[in-house]
Amino acid sequence: MNLIDAYGREIDYLRISVIDKCNLKCFYCVPEEGACAAYAEHSMSLDEIEKLVKIASSMGVRKVRLTGGEPLIRPDILELISRVSAVEGISDLSLTTNGIMLNKMASKLVKAGLSRVNISLDSLDPENFKRITRGGILDKTLKGVYRALEEGLTPVKINVVAMKGINDREISNFARLTLENDLHVRFIEYMPINNEHEKQWGDCFLPLTEIQGLCEEIGPLKEEKIFQGNGPATYYRIDGAKGLVGFISPVSRHFCAKCNRLRITADGKIKPCLFSLEEMDLKEAEGREEDIKKMLIKALKYRPDPHMVDQDPRGRFNCNKRGMLQIGG
Ligand code: 5AD
Repeated sequence: MNLIDAYGREIDYLRISVIDKCNLKCFYCVPEEGACAAYAEHSMSLDEIEKLVKIASSMGVRKVRLTGGEPLIRPDILELISRVSAVEGISDLSLTTNGIMLNKMASKLVKAGLSRVNISLDSLDPENFKRITRGGILDKTLKGVYRALEEGLTPVKINVVAMKGINDREISNFARLTLENDLHVRFIEYMPINNEHEKQWGDCFLPLTEIQGLCEEIGPLKEEKIFQGNGPATYYRIDGAKGLVGFISPVSRHFCAKCNRLRITADGKIKPCLFSLEEMDLKEAEGREEDIKKMLIKALKYRPDPHMVDQDPRGRFNCNKRGMLQIGG
């Protein structure tokens, strides 16, 4: 039985947060005191994740993304990748990382079976990077980006959360990166993930139209119809550029109608929608395949009507109990 929700959206994509700890502390994601979740106690084990992916694959899931926190700090990440990539039916296994450990790990990740990476990077200026990440070293992530390209973890996508007063003056520099490098640099509108973010979000939100305008300072953008699956980004090429710029606008132009994903939190809860309050606890299934299947099907019932979202565009935000650190973006 395939995973199709009440609004006809077919789920073929699972995003699994494999750890809710991170080796950076980006101000909009990780609390200042850091993330000190008792990972070993509540995270899903290798066996649990492998079993879940096998079941999801039997229900039509074809793409899996491992997220975090920072997935590369999970000690058994290579083993996890080998197991998940070996699951029959999974044709695309990707990972979202801050890139800090990529320089060291990229070739091992390839050998383990990873197809590609998305790298979160919000500044190209060492001082600003340090400020945003509360202490991170830009050079490490940049080395990771180039290593990922060399190792063929492609397309290498860079995720830039565009924020007023934080990195808006760098947007054209990010776009310029695509001139010489075959990167997909994607600008993401800043989302108010939970209540704690409301004030900060109000101060920093930058709408798509403004982000796009800042990119056009480099040159006119020509839309590129690449095969995107059901991905939320629209892509453009600056004349003569090797890479692409992309825009992801969850706030001003949501893409709920073509949402094809379910999310699993680091502690093993199914999130029917990024902004759902309801979660299904996989631990309650105690490994029973039939019960895991039932939970995945139950999650479909809680996927919101994409048309309702249109009527109340702000209504879907600010309802999370969790931050991105646990949900995994
Ligand atoms: N708004 C938009 N994007 C966010 N991310 C994390 N928090 C937010 C937010 N509030 C991004 C990360 C990462 C991706 C998984 O989600 O930077 O690249």
